[in-house]
Amino acid sequence: MSSQQPAVRLTGWGRYAPAQILSNADLERMVDTSDEWIVSRTGIRERRVAAAHESTASMGAIAGLRAIKTAGLDVDDIDIIILATLTPDYWMPSTAALVKEAIGNTKAACFDVAAACSGFVYAYATASAYIGAGMAKNVLVIGAELLTRFLDYTDRGTCILFGDGAGAVVLSASGEPTATTGIELTTDPQGAYMIWLPAGGSKAPPSYDTLSRGQHKIRMEGKETYRFATRTLASTGLAAVAKAGWTQDDIDLIIPHQANVRIIEAVAKGLDLPMDKFFVNVDRYGNTSAASVPLALAEAANSGRIKPGDKIVMVAFGAGFTSGAIATEWTADPSRGPVGDAAVRPEDISVRLPVDWDSVDPVPAALAEILARPLPGHLDLSDVVPGEPEHAHQTR
Ligand code: ACO
Repeated sequence: MSSQQPAVRLTGWGRYAPAQILSNADLERMVDTSDEWIVSRTGIRERRVAAAHESTASMGAIAGLRAIKTAGLDVDDIDIIILATLTPDYWMPSTAALVKEAIGNTKAACFDVAAACSGFVYAYATASAYIGAGMAKNVLVIGAELLTRFLDYTDRGTCILFGDGAGAVVLSASGEPTATTGIELTTDPQGAYMIWLPAGGSKAPPSYDTLSRGQHKIRMEGKETYRFATRTLASTGLAAVAKAGWTQDDIDLIIPHQANVRIIEAVAKGLDLPMDKFFVNVDRYGNTSAASVPLALAEAANSGRIKPGDKIVMVAFGAGFTSGAIATEWTADPSRGPVGDAAVRPEDISVRLPVDWDSVDPVPAALAEILARPLPGHLDLSDVVPGEPEHAHQTR
């Protein structure tokens, strides 16, 4: 990097996960599976499901605004919004454009990135390039997914894996010495049909036929994807580490794509690194695709797993096949994270709908019952008869 090029720093981070939980016990009632199978083969115990009023844009906006608050910036300090997703609100406009309006930004250029579960890492790399080239000062990078509306709840090989959520970071130009960063991105189209969503694009536009054949839901060859994942997470992560000028021993924390804890364990074993060098939250969120790495990063920072000076590696793989890794030194104050979270309440964010919008119910039939039940942690008071509580029986 020449001395004229601005340094790139991660200054803000934020996350959002919908309140409703879809547990393995819930899935046991839908498909022929068991909590024991899901936990032993994937490490997943539960995942989140977006409510009917939520969308990829609304979740991305909450996480994004939290990241801006964490960075201590005003919304109009952001000059580009890049949103990674494979579940956009619409084919067009971009989901990033909807986020811009929802957070009240008036200045940013907005676009989406499509690289499936590697999408956030690709978007991060794109943001770094814009800042490094002097074309932007503050870029909001969001990974947001609403996968539960694209799952086939009769396919036990896929519906148990995925969940909804969003995570975001702000990258900023800095005059201070740069934090070392190494970036590696790869794409192997041999894997193009290993994880795919067949219909809805120009090759198979939506029709009664595509609907009746179930071609609007995610399909996956699990075993081939697993093999690719274990191989590529290690090689892509190490390539980024080498580009940062570090060795494997320098790494303080790896934030891997949260697809399956067995994949993460296999990578740890292959690299001869202890599991405590890897941040894991797949047990609580499942695979949230492009949201997975930033959601895990924000959780790691807010839970005290990252401190200034730490060398961290974010690494992902996904449909395409794609993979990507960012090796960077953490320079921000981790205590800022909870400040950003507290500053943005989900109910304060709304995504504008068109005036003539005649909405269909977006809730998958298989999840209707789950989404209708009271939220965890909220008491249903509708059947409580008002009155004085009885005194506890006193014994002397
Ligand atoms: N419950 C119970 N049994 C199941 C389930 C289930 N949910 N799913 C599959 N099985 C059965 C299979 O039918 C098979 O039965 P059989 O032996 O009678 O034929 C048996 O379990 C073993 O199935 P496998 O597919 O071999 O199971 P495996 O151990 O490979 O685990 C899994 C499957 C979890 C999908 C694993 O292959 C995996 O994690 N792959 C990677 C997936 C991934 O990471 N995808 C995300 C990509 S990122 C993106 O861009 C979206």
